Amino acid sequence: MAALSARARATQRSRTARSAPRRPAPRAAPRCAAREGGGARREALVGANARAAAPPTARAHAARRISHPAPPRTHRLTPLALRAAVDPVDAVGNWKCNPESLGEALALARLVGAAARGAASDGAAGGVTVGVVPPAPFLAPVAECLREFGGGRVAVGAQDVHTERAGAYTGAASAPQLRSAGAQFALVGHSERRALFGDDDEAVNAKLRAALAAGLRAILCVGETLEERELGVTDAVVATQLAKGLAGVDAAQMAAGNVAIAYEPVWAIGTGRVATPAQAQLVHAAARSWLEGAYGRAVADSVVIQYGGSVTPEAVDELMACPDVDGVLVGGASLKAEAFARIATFRSPSTEAEAAAAAAAHAQRAAENAARAADAARANAAAVAASAGGGAPPVVSHATEVVPCGNVLGESPVWSVAEQCLYWVSSVGKELWRWDGASPAVRRGLPEVVGCCALVAGANSTALVALEHRGIGTFDMRTGAFSPIVDAWEPGQNTRPNDGRVDREGNFVIAGYNNIHRADALESSGVYCLPAEGGELVRIRDGNVRCSNATCFSPDGTTMYFCDTPQRRLLAYAYAPGAPLGEGRVVWEMPAGLAGGPDGAQTDAQGGVWMALSGAGRVSRVDPATGRVTHEIRLPCDMPTSVTVGGADLDTLYITTRKPDGGGLFAAPMPAGLRGLPEPEYGAPSTKQNAPDGAPAAALTTTTNGMFVDVA
Ligand code: PGA
Repeated sequence: MAALSARARATQRSRTARSAPRRPAPRAAPRCAAREGGGARREALVGANARAAAPPTARAHAARRISHPAPPRTHRLTPLALRAAVDPVDAVGNWKCNPESLGEALALARLVGAAARGAASDGAAGGVTVGVVPPAPFLAPVAECLREFGGGRVAVGAQDVHTERAGAYTGAASAPQLRSAGAQFALVGHSERRALFGDDDEAVNAKLRAALAAGLRAILCVGETLEERELGVTDAVVATQLAKGLAGVDAAQMAAGNVAIAYEPVWAIGTGRVATPAQAQLVHAAARSWLEGAYGRAVADSVVIQYGGSVTPEAVDELMACPDVDGVLVGGASLKAEAFARIATFRSPSTEAEAAAAAAAHAQRAAENAARAADAARANAAAVAASAGGGAPPVVSHATEVVPCGNVLGESPVWSVAEQCLYWVSSVGKELWRWDGASPAVRRGLPEVVGCCALVAGANSTALVALEHRGIGTFDMRTGAFSPIVDAWEPGQNTRPNDGRVDREGNFVIAGYNNIHRADALESSGVYCLPAEGGELVRIRDGNVRCSNATCFSPDGTTMYFCDTPQRRLLAYAYAPGAPLGEGRVVWEMPAGLAGGPDGAQTDAQGGVWMALSGAGRVSRVDPATGRVTHEIRLPCDMPTSVTVGGADLDTLYITTRKPDGGGLFAAPMPAGLRGLPEPEYGAPSTKQNAPDGAPAAALTTTTNGMFVDVA
């Protein structure tokens, strides 16, 4: 049985009205917005083979360890001869940094080539084009080998391209070089490049344009992290990556088929957790809708959108049956020739009976999902009604940006009464920030991803930081020195520290983030207390925290508020320092109509809990006694991440935000009658504020960098 080529699928899609409902076009038109592309005919840009295309105060603690739906399309065979000469590849095997030796790479290439040749002569895979993406050093020999064994049926691509054509860029491989070594296309923006090598959207766009300029076709990889999915911002993340990645790419380039999109949810890559067909279809349809808004319907219909993330022979048929899934980008399974060959010969429902059976299965799944969603909505409405208890609607006001710091993921604002300044972090941006409200904000790079920061008693320009691997310690912005207090975080588990805050007696309470971040993951993350006098972390709640947030304390210090963001509920726990947390009481549940989830939170002097609702573009104050939202601060971006109260009179709300549409520090006046409390400092015996250590903040050596200042 054979599958339809991506090109033919796209053509078919453009001929038949899709029955899957389209999402509305994205709000913001991308810079590259262009009208309908001219001819839909694709022109070869590439050669003949391209078809397939110290802790607080003076105390010195020794570093310690932790103690503890749409109906499927009917596919038909497309004879090879009818395919356009530059069909995009349907099944692409990304070998990543594998295998270890050239010999193994050539052995794999021979098997893939032979399988493609065999499939073509059987009539199977008649319309499928196949590509492999070996590591750069193997590109030329693999291309050569595939010419011999694959008869030109397997395209070869590069995993990355440099932005410049040539020059003094040690270690880089440019697009013209890769092309001359045999590459016909290139991946850009793979999530591993983004996460491990710092490729941001601007770099991805420059690479994509460099590839096109050199005559390589490009596969632009986009996709959300699990945190972003659970915050309900998947489509926004993908739309931003498309808008930025495709900036300057015109409709003619798109219509020519020079760019394919690979939707690769980060949580599915290499995890064995493949997106369900319904999940993939929704995002693919949203991406196509974005393309329609940018380039017009005809072009959007012609663009190939591949799915990537733990694709297996078992999963491929159902994925490829989705109307907007045109191909697959395969990592792990592409290293086994047999598995990859099966993926490349995915089976589509080619008869009426198969199509009907698939449609019935699809309808049943949709009905099950709808029933589950209705149950959840009922439960949610009941919880909201119970907690709201009637009453007046919240008082609404607005926040404005006060520091355009462009944080990838701003977090953890804390106001120091002693220093009269705000500290916060850019979590994955690995930075500690400090701002006195008047001079330019100051930032300094941290050695690792940081979960949160806290004040340190008696210190100046120094904060407690919780780092991904090095653990928890103090970081001096003047010297850049990190002094560990606890030198590891949940050793052996795939977690990192996330949200934390100092309780009212100077102890630091911190909880984790599960990097795999799914309900059934073995890895877990607990809640810990680092005693004010130092020592080891004391586990106060067992694991299964997926994304800790909203940690803050009632004015009397006997209640701790906490939220595991995917659960979308704020809980209150009876709290005594170091003692296990018992059962939590649900204080507030996020209404079903609001996207996202509760993120960082802070209490005010009147006992209200201010929560940043990431994904919902607002900070809400809930009265824990009634569960009622009394005030709302709206932001011009969707993703506020945390909040605190600061300023000389503790009457200003400071709100951190994150990309894609935020990133700045925002502020809003506290509503009349409400005030903040001094933020407790780690190591202080009580909430009493200690005097700083004497060294003036001005001792920071700084260099100007636009609107803020880097500590040298
Ligand atoms: P995976 O990788 O199939 O191993 O999840 C996909 C990719 O990274 O492209």
